[in-house]
Amino acid sequence: MIETIRNRIVEIVEQACAADTNIFGYDIWTHHILPVVQNAKQLAPRFNADLEIVELAALLHDYASIKDKALYADHHIHGPIEAEKLLKRFGYPEEKTEAVKDAIATHRASVTVEHRSAEGECLANADALSHIEQTPSLLYLAYVHHGMGIDDGKTWVKAKLQRSWQKLREDVQDLVRDKYEAALKTL
Ligand SMILES: [Fe+2]
Ligand SMILES: [Fe+2]
Repeated sequence: MIETIRNRIVEIVEQACAADTNIFGYDIWTHHILPVVQNAKQLAPRFNADLEIVELAALLHDYASIKDKALYADHHIHGPIEAEKLLKRFGYPEEKTEAVKDAIATHRASVTVEHRSAEGECLANADALSHIEQTPSLLYLAYVHHGMGIDDGKTWVKAKLQRSWQKLREDVQDLVRDKYEAALKTL
């Protein structure tokens, strides 16, 4: 059953990414959501996180802001609501749904949270890791999406990279230290 639910969620999120209303463009699917899913699955054993929960949470973590740009600012609040609607519709167990919602609610670096579950930690690290691995996506966001000039964009991307770096657990930092330092040097 979980395979069917997962596949339905993949379909729904990919469709939302392909829709004209998605302000980030279809690239967010290939260059952010899929890398976060991949990272989350790879990091799960390090965090003792449940693989099924982290995969669903990773697929859905930015879904609210992809679906509706008005929900971007508070997408850590709207994300869990959207996730619940979908998972309920597919008959996903309530307890597991709560775990998915909890991980989505705590995934952002810019929002301070009191506690994170193992799955929430794993997702937050996977999300931050993908920002560091996908520097071109951040440049795109700054220059195309936000329409920034060269210097402003550079400052913005650098700050975003530094925030993402600080969000990583030390052993995860070690996985991308070279990439992070190279990106900072370039900027
Ligand atoms: Fe997010
Ligand atoms: Fe994200």
